[in-house]
Amino acid sequence: MLIDDDIGMMEAMRVVLKKYSILVSPYTEPIAALENLKNNPKKYDILIINYLMNPVRGDEIVKLVREFNNEIYIILMSGHKELTPSIDVMRSLDIQAYFEKSSRIDQLVLLIESGFKYINSIDNIKTMSRTIELHAIEIADILKNTVGAKDNYTKYHSDRVALYAKMFGTCLGLSEDDLNTLALAAQFHDIGKIGIADNILLKNGKLTESEYEHVKLHTTIGPSILSSSEVFKKALPLIKHHHEQYDGNGYPDGLKGDSIPYLVRILSICDTFDAITGERPYKEAKSIEFGLEEMKKNIGVQFDADLIEKFVDCINLNIDEVNKIHRSSIRNI
Ligand SMILES: [Fe+2]
Ligand SMILES: [Fe+2]
Repeated sequence: MLIDDDIGMMEAMRVVLKKYSILVSPYTEPIAALENLKNNPKKYDILIINYLMNPVRGDEIVKLVREFNNEIYIILMSGHKELTPSIDVMRSLDIQAYFEKSSRIDQLVLLIESGFKYINSIDNIKTMSRTIELHAIEIADILKNTVGAKDNYTKYHSDRVALYAKMFGTCLGLSEDDLNTLALAAQFHDIGKIGIADNILLKNGKLTESEYEHVKLHTTIGPSILSSSEVFKKALPLIKHHHEQYDGNGYPDGLKGDSIPYLVRILSICDTFDAITGERPYKEAKSIEFGLEEMKKNIGVQFDADLIEKFVDCINLNIDEVNKIHRSSIRNI
């Protein structure tokens, strides 16, 4: 995108750049250009903008661009050497290059080409870090399967909690980023059970007090396993605190009320709902209605009233999908 109120100069640039196969969208109206950039965030790789324009200066436009677009590569140009903004201003606006207008427009080509090289390297870095993220998730999946090899319930329970969490998070209008954190935490919230002794983890009956204390450790073992990967950074507090209770009687830290982070409270509702309704070797599955009634009984104890009300609404709104998830809990003990 090229923004300049000097039509003659802009046409000359367009012709020269076309010779180098660089496609240019010329704009003489900065405000119209700004709107276009806002509505088409992926359309332009590079913004070339003139500094001295009427009624708005180029740096003022760049300031507005940076409010919604941190990625576009920006080349500022000026025909007045002595009137250009300082290096500090250009740095603060993340302007990557400066071009002094002259008859040697082809010099601009070099700046544009280095802009493209920069964009390509950023793209490569993004692809690489996404690949690394996927590998880390794959490794965590292997760990989850390892837990599953000794305790099938935990593996399928985690899959179901992730489905409930995505559903509930969507009902609550969470951002995409929060939804991803929630789903990731749900998938791996009980991974710490890998460190729980088999005779306790697989016991078909009531746990003794000391056995229960041992099971509680899964909330700290999980985060310590996953903390070596950056990918799980945001999910770790959810994994650590998924057994906290609204009245402060949960574990591991006895967090109380609103000091339990919002996403943790969402995860803990989904986790408990599946634990109540799902089938276990020592207890049969319970109906969805029964599960919701039990959740309501725990308002003020385990959960806050507002979130439970929203959870009940969300379950009723998605009842077909909930039935499907619930049925799978009966097959997968
Ligand atoms: Fe748990
Ligand atoms: Fe769980």
